[in-house]
Amino acid sequence: MKTNKVLLITGASGFLGTWLADEASKEGFTLIGVDLRAPLKPHLWTAFATSSLESLDFDCLLKGYKVDYVCHLAGGASVASSVNNPFGDFASLLPGTARLALYLAKMQPSARLFLFSSAAVYGNPQTLPIDEHTPVKPISPYGIHKATAEFLLSNYSRALGTPVTILRIFSVYGPGLRKQLIYDVSHRAIKASSMGEDSIQLFGTGYESRDFIYVEDLCSAVLLIMKAQPDNCLNIYNVASGVESTVNEVAQTLIDHLGIDLNIKFNGVVPKGDPANWRADISELKDLGFEAKYSLSAGLQQVAEWMSVDTWEFSN
Ligand SMILES: NC(=O)c1ccc[n+]([C@@H]2O[C@H](COP(=O)([O-])OP(=O)(O)OC[C@H]3O[C@@H](n4cnc5c(N)ncnc54)[C@H](O)[C@@H]3O)[C@@H](O)[C@H]2O)c1
Repeated sequence: MKTNKVLLITGASGFLGTWLADEASKEGFTLIGVDLRAPLKPHLWTAFATSSLESLDFDCLLKGYKVDYVCHLAGGASVASSVNNPFGDFASLLPGTARLALYLAKMQPSARLFLFSSAAVYGNPQTLPIDEHTPVKPISPYGIHKATAEFLLSNYSRALGTPVTILRIFSVYGPGLRKQLIYDVSHRAIKASSMGEDSIQLFGTGYESRDFIYVEDLCSAVLLIMKAQPDNCLNIYNVASGVESTVNEVAQTLIDHLGIDLNIKFNGVVPKGDPANWRADISELKDLGFEAKYSLSAGLQQVAEWMSVDTWEFSN
């Protein structure tokens, strides 16, 4: 059934913001967005501010709207960038998060705020799978700042009554994502093949693992959690597929789908801030009825198809 709810998305022009807006618009949400950058799909938005969250004129953007949900995606989205520029990562997330939460508490107190946090808050856990009670022990600036945002919002929630849901999102991938392992492997494999090379070399041992979720499944999970209407003020969910895949398996499956015959080598060096193994316990999400639609192979097939039509970008 179509909804008539109002959804504000921060970080609306990024990879997930654009996908989420697309999926939410199919369900009838009225969409309001904010991002430093102009929207990728302007037709989706009823109102949009091209602004930082820290300097946003909230009253102007939200005039006349009663906001039901806020998906807060704005901020840094890369462990590597946070290692290179830790204060930049802090500054892109925390002042805006505080401003948003304080505005909502005062002016839109019934809106539920969904923080797009990350599995990076768990760091290198001692045991797998990781459930929502696993201790928060981040090992990168990105993870530390996400954990700080969670702490800030859970305390605002307790003290000011703002309804907050924390989403600890694992590794999302899909068409449109121009960063991280899957994009990097595709890009390099296509380039190596066009230059007649017979191998590519990746960081790590190949045995590092992640819990990958295809972007369309991620959006379905988020919309399911949004509709769940919990009674309690603060909720936490792992959002993942619940399936652990090694970097080697992902890279191999991807180049097979790309139809490229290459050897994948590993240099044994694990980048700073990168944990070794992740697999999420998604029982809480499954209790809401979530089931991933895409296997890893099916999701990587989508990426390979997108990369095949997107390759012109590499040569331009
Ligand atoms: N992609 C993943 O695998 C993944 C996993 C876990 C968590 N997340 C989180 O989900 C969110 C979205 O991720 P993404 O992959 O779409 O990243 P992205 O970099 O594509 O999008 C982030 C967007 O936020 C905007 N932004 C950054 N700082 C801002 C600010 N201060 N004010 C306004 N806009 C700002 C950027 O311009 C960008 O468009 C991020 O918070 C990220 O940490 C992503």
